[in-house]
Parts: sequence; C-alpha cells; structure tokens
Amino acid sequence: MGKYCCYRPGHCGRHRAGRPGALDCRSAGAAIGGADLLVAGAPVLGFRLPDEKMRENIKLNPGRAPAPADLSHPSMRTWLAGLPKGNGRATAFETRLWWSPGGSTAAILRGLQAAGYLPLAPARRFIVTGAYGPLRGGEVERARRWGLELGQALIQA
Ligand SMILES: Cc1cc2nc3c(=O)[nH]c(=O)nc-3n(C[C@H](O)[C@H](O)[C@H](O)COP(=O)(O)O)c2cc1C
Repeated sequence: MGKYCCYRPGHCGRHRAGRPGALDCRSAGAAIGGADLLVAGAPVLGFRLPDEKMRENIKLNPGRAPAPADLSHPSMRTWLAGLPKGNGRATAFETRLWWSPGGSTAAILRGLQAAGYLPLAPARRFIVTGAYGPLRGGEVERARRWGLELGQALIQA
C-alpha cells in the first residue's frame, strides 16, 4: 500500500492516533497531499464535530474530567480547513456515546471531499462507556479489523 494517514484529535488526552507506518498528520505537513488514504476521526461533543468554541469551553470548564484536556493539537475543523488538496481516498470515524443523536463524521467527510479525497468506505462509530471514555470493550479490536478492511478496499479500488 502507499501512503496512509490517520488523524484523530481527542479532547481528553487518551487514544491518540498513530500506528506503525501511519503518518503523523500534525507534523507531515504538505506530505499529506500525496496520501493514498486518509482516515480522520474525532469525538462527538455537543452532538456534533467540536469547534474551537467548544474546545475553549472544555478548557475553561473541565467538569469532572479525570485529566486535563489535551488541546495541543489543531481541532479537526481547523485541520480540515488547512488540508492540502489531494486525490486519494478517505473515510472518517467518531468516538461517541451509544445513545447520542448527532455525530461528527458527516462534517469530516465533507471536509475531506472538499480537499479532493473521495470516500473509500462508509464512516464508523466507536463507542465510549462514559462522557470521558474509555472505549467500550472490543472497540479497539473492531477498529483494527476496520483498518485491515480499508487496506483491502484500497487495493481493490
Ligand atoms: C462536554 C462533553 C460533551 C459531550 N457531548 C457528547 C455528545 O453530544 N454525544 C456523544 O455521543 N458523546 C459526547 N461526549 C462524549 C465524547 O464523545 C467522548 O468523551 C469522546 O468521544 C472520548 O474521546 P476523547 O477522550 O479522545 O476525547 C461528550 C463529552 C464531553 C466531555
């Protein structure tokens, strides 16, 4: 497979993106433009893809967060707005509570498509057990299987 990239800013400082072979999109800069596959994900906050105002609120009002939010990386909205044009394929995922309305992936897919990345596969939802995580049992394995499926889909595309 060629170049692929997974970007997933969180807000609670847990499950960061990254696995062997994946580009770190925060530091890869213009190299992302040549990616064959982009997989971008974000948490659902306030029923949607978080914006800078929500992140600022979380910073000012941490609530009962077990650890301070890690806001050192650009938000998904900011990252998408600065994404260099490409002609690869893409998909999206979100982490969320099982019962919540709304979601983040539609906005992520729109941003990826605006940068020239056509959808490779439907977006996925990964479920957390509470407002501050962690991921429900089995979700990491489900994510790994999805990664393998995406690799196959890219080869066949
Ligand atoms: C202030 C706040 C608002 C949230 N709003 C939603 C929501 O509307 N829908 C939902 O499914 N999950 C919601 N969540 C749960 C987050 O989606 C969950 O904490 C996140 O996916 C965990 O990933 P992270 O630790 O990497 O941020 C919310 C969490 C917080 C702290």
